[in-house]
Amino acid sequence: MLIDLKDRVAIVTGAGRGIGRAIARKLANEGATTLVADFQQELLDDVAAEWAANGWRGAQIQGDVRRSEDCKAVAELAERQFGRIDILVNNAGVAGGARVEEMAEAAWDANMDVNLKGTFLMSQAVIPSMKSQNSGRILNAASFAAIVPSIGGAAYAASKAGVESFTRVLAGELGPHNITVNCYAPGMIPTEMNHFAERDAETQDMLLDTLSLRRWGDPEDVANLICFLASDHAGYITGAMIDISGGKFATQQPWAAYRSKR
Ligand SMILES: NC(=O)c1ccc[n+]([C@@H]2O[C@H](COP(=O)([O-])OP(=O)(O)OC[C@H]3O[C@@H](n4cnc5c(N)ncnc54)[C@H](O)[C@@H]3O)[C@@H](O)[C@H]2O)c1
Repeated sequence: MLIDLKDRVAIVTGAGRGIGRAIARKLANEGATTLVADFQQELLDDVAAEWAANGWRGAQIQGDVRRSEDCKAVAELAERQFGRIDILVNNAGVAGGARVEEMAEAAWDANMDVNLKGTFLMSQAVIPSMKSQNSGRILNAASFAAIVPSIGGAAYAASKAGVESFTRVLAGELGPHNITVNCYAPGMIPTEMNHFAERDAETQDMLLDTLSLRRWGDPEDVANLICFLASDHAGYITGAMIDISGGKFATQQPWAAYRSKR
């Protein structure tokens, strides 16, 4: 199966680093003209250098997904410079918070505004282009936290559960326009957001014990999924949430298979 994204125009938000950067890199490498949006300009400068060094088509734009004007500007740039929008990856996200009793209102708002409202605003900005083409792919970053949340992660988990519901509604609304909308749930991927691989050995063991595959995820694992979902091969998948967590709690005691491995 060959994934060919030539002639496709993709937008990836929060793609200055981490998982988004890996997604944008993979899409570009598979031939898509890839517009990288992030609110941190210094990250975008580095992306620009990488794109130039590899001869990839695309552009970089500073924008904050919490602001509707910025989201419209991202979509307008893609239209103006490349003539269409085929793929939107709503990757931009933040985490953090505290137990509900101690959580600052600002932490709640940050999770909701970036993770959930940002996904809404950016999707809204690309819908007219995708409708006029009668095709499109919208891919939203949810999280395993939307499936089984963590203590202290109420704001994050609620925002990501919201992303799943939003995805299903939008899939229903855009089905008649041949636009698919899906989300994905990464588990534990070491990035600037989550320094899993830098925790003490005991904590790492405890976390890895929850996984059937017993390894941290790699941003590239998510990038591979996105390329598939963005391709023609995934044309009959919509409204889905794909678990890409390495089998987190696929069984009640994933570790047991390792202790009795034969
Ligand atoms: N790392 C994990 O284990 C994990 C697990 C589940 C889900 N996710 C989700 O995957 C996505 C990427 O996570 P990551 O680990 O690469 O995080 P990261 O912090 O390394 O990268 C997030 C990127 O989003 C950008 N960003 C943040 N707020 C923004 C805003 N308002 N507007 C535009 N850009 C903004 C940041 O500048 C950064 O480049 C997030 O949605 C996250 O919730 C990550």
